[in-house]
Amino acid sequence: MKKIAFLTSGGDAPGMNAAIRSIVQTCLHFNCIPFAIYDGYQGMLEGRGRIMESKDVENCIQLGGTIIGTARCKEFMTLEGRGKAIEFLRKEEIDGLIVIGGDGTFAGAMLLGKEMNIPIIGIPGTIDNDIKGTDYTIGFDTALNTVVASIDKIRDTASSHHRVFLVEVMGKDAGSLAIDSALGSAIETVLIPEEQTDILKLVQQIKSNRENIKATIVIVAEGDDAGNSSIIIEKVKPYLEGVDIKQTILGHIQRGGSPSAFDRILGTSMGNFAVNELIAGNTNKMVSIKNNKVCLHDLNNIGKLSQDFNQKLRIIEELVDLSK
Ligand code: F6P
Repeated sequence: MKKIAFLTSGGDAPGMNAAIRSIVQTCLHFNCIPFAIYDGYQGMLEGRGRIMESKDVENCIQLGGTIIGTARCKEFMTLEGRGKAIEFLRKEEIDGLIVIGGDGTFAGAMLLGKEMNIPIIGIPGTIDNDIKGTDYTIGFDTALNTVVASIDKIRDTASSHHRVFLVEVMGKDAGSLAIDSALGSAIETVLIPEEQTDILKLVQQIKSNRENIKATIVIVAEGDDAGNSSIIIEKVKPYLEGVDIKQTILGHIQRGGSPSAFDRILGTSMGNFAVNELIAGNTNKMVSIKNNKVCLHDLNNIGKLSQDFNQKLRIIEELVDLSK
């Protein structure tokens, strides 16, 4: 295992640079050659990348995003696209590949691994925290802190004006960011894809909330079954005559920002683990964290995590202020 290539793919996530730094430094520790591929699979099939040294990563752990770029690359899911990628990896004499991204990233890597017979290790990097086999994905903790800090700010103005706010958070079709930010922000009403949304029940919650407390904030996961916040606001407005209801879509600020200590440590640990696994001759594994221990999960058993939020929903329910 001499030359190890690595890339970031899909939505960027804070903490990816910690993983990149760790991969480079661990490779150099074991006299391997770290080879960065730019812009994910797009750069791979276009033949863009270069060998990295310590100086390339000496000041990046605190940076959000990914210093080697990322992309969503449809062409890579074609045989022809992967053919170009394989040609590039062969030309560069790559012995092993580390891919940092979400489940779509891993699906592409598995195809490449089979067609090229190259060892592959995945590192879960997405703010959605929706990957089966790991308790946390790199970027989730930072994004969660960004959402909680944003809701604190929205609460200030909502309280001043006694307004209702629908705050939409990312997560694609997962509710992790929504449910944890509700717990972390003392929000009593949260709409997630994993639970059926009842519009009339939501209206009732908003009405009873408004009677007694100043600010009413509803967190809406962008993938909720009743629709995103733009759709939901239109559904509830007819029942809330005269209520000043606003919408805030947090959008891509959830993807940026300096990584939290947790995400820096997670990225650093997973990057180091991934290089060690390649050197040990392992393949088709995803580095994961389970019960606070870094370990390996079979990439053949990857996919979206079907989340059971009942315990968290029970806590939110039991903390509803009954004095209203
Ligand atoms: O997967 C991460 C994520 O931020 C999702 O939460 C979101 O739906 C999606 O990426 C947005 O994708 P893009 O950055 O390509 O618009």
